[in-house]
Amino acid sequence: NMKTEVKVSADEEELVAQLRNYLTEKLTYLLEQNGTISIGVSGGSMPKVWSEALLSVAPELLNWKRIRIFMVDERHVPRDHEDSNLGAYLQLFPQELHHVFIPVPISKQVVHTAQAYEINLRKYLLPEQLNTYPRFDILFLGAGPDGHTASIFPGKEQLEKITDLNWVSVITDSPKPPPSRVTITMQCIQNAKNVAFILTGANKRDVVRAIHEGDKSIPAAQARPMNNKMILFLDEHAAAGVPNR
Ligand code: 6PG
Repeated sequence: NMKTEVKVSADEEELVAQLRNYLTEKLTYLLEQNGTISIGVSGGSMPKVWSEALLSVAPELLNWKRIRIFMVDERHVPRDHEDSNLGAYLQLFPQELHHVFIPVPISKQVVHTAQAYEINLRKYLLPEQLNTYPRFDILFLGAGPDGHTASIFPGKEQLEKITDLNWVSVITDSPKPPPSRVTITMQCIQNAKNVAFILTGANKRDVVRAIHEGDKSIPAAQARPMNNKMILFLDEHAAAGVPNR
């Protein structure tokens, strides 16, 4: 069954510290494996706490040549637009580290943006077997009160395949503005080695419960990594959704 680890923080400072410890543990392990670490990150409230956590990991572990950061999803807006997820991360990272982010090439048509992003992902994330899905080391996901994660919304899970790879999809009627977004697919999420949710606020309590109950109607609860290992970083309010806590 699902081995869901739960870390509850009393405030944002503790949340950042817990994220830093988690990143330290994963970076140590993966750098010993001598590989590169591919990390997907989400938008909304995540950029601020996540960037603070990664940038405060012990410098000797931050081998930036071996770290690649991808957008789990991106809004179809220019990079300097206030709604851009990549733009939010780039503002939080020093200029000399911007190269660790794999860009989402924004073009006029959202489908072309998705196709270009998929080509970029392929450059860095060849799947072990051809014609399967990439294997992200860690995907940091948020979730909405409605249970969406990435840009995969309840009742809108069947997104149009824009290539036969099906690594990236497009939504143009996102219930969460802005309406047009590109997102990695649920198949990519489920193929990750580790999935870490960051969920804070009372309005995330029900999605926390849905994740624990494995409620398949909720995209965040479908985001089950291949080895079933999932960790939830919660605050006290969202943790009210953890059964018999
Ligand atoms: C986005 C995010 C989205 C986000 C959730 C939670 O681009 O909007 O990827 O999936 O993670 O909507 O957002 P909050 O953490 O801001 O509530």
